[in-house]
Amino acid sequence: MTGEGAGMPTGELRAKGVDRVLIDAETLQAGIREIAAELDAEYANDTPLMIGVLTGAVAFMADLMQAMTIPLTIDFMAISSYGSSTKSSGVVRILKDLDQDVEGRRIIVVEDIVDSGLTLQYLLDQLELRGPKDIRVVALLKKDKPDAIPVQVDRIGFHIPDEFVIGFGLDYAGIYRNLPYVAVLHPSVYQTEE
Ligand code: IMP
Ligand code: MG
Repeated sequence: MTGEGAGMPTGELRAKGVDRVLIDAETLQAGIREIAAELDAEYANDTPLMIGVLTGAVAFMADLMQAMTIPLTIDFMAISSYGSSTKSSGVVRILKDLDQDVEGRRIIVVEDIVDSGLTLQYLLDQLELRGPKDIRVVALLKKDKPDAIPVQVDRIGFHIPDEFVIGFGLDYAGIYRNLPYVAVLHPSVYQTEE
């Protein structure tokens, strides 16, 4: 499930600062194909609305929806935490709302990573108020974190250790989203920022 050992995965400029690959591109794509097949079966008689949580879910959602063979529509929400940028406060606000009405729709929420779970819980509370037919949550990654809140996640792509990860949509200071794998950042990258 996890990738290779220590060291720079490639000499690419976009990989500067990467310590090690945690989930390589092939493994990610295989996992996504599996999830897509399950969703195809689950929604075979529907046209679900796939909602991506900006910005981190973009890479995962793009590949997931293309691996699915049923008709679907997509929309995006952007959410931001108030307060400290390094830790979720649970106080969240909507920066960009949906363009579509979700009433009566079958919703698939697509998240990049569930950490504390607070962001996702807020989003689900908001969506529930709008009367969808049902909601299913698909997260590419879930951190094994004992103090995370027990939020609804129906399908997890990969369980990862409680480390800060980047790539495949996930960023550090806005960078690294275009890595095609999930990686751990070298500590020197954030130590020099302090
Ligand atoms: P939560 O509210 O603590 O679950 O945080 C969820 C959001 O924080 C995710 O959707 C990500 O955007 C961001 N996040 C959490 N952990 C990481 C990480 O390891 N790397 C990059 N972003 C992360
Ligand atoms: Mg996110």
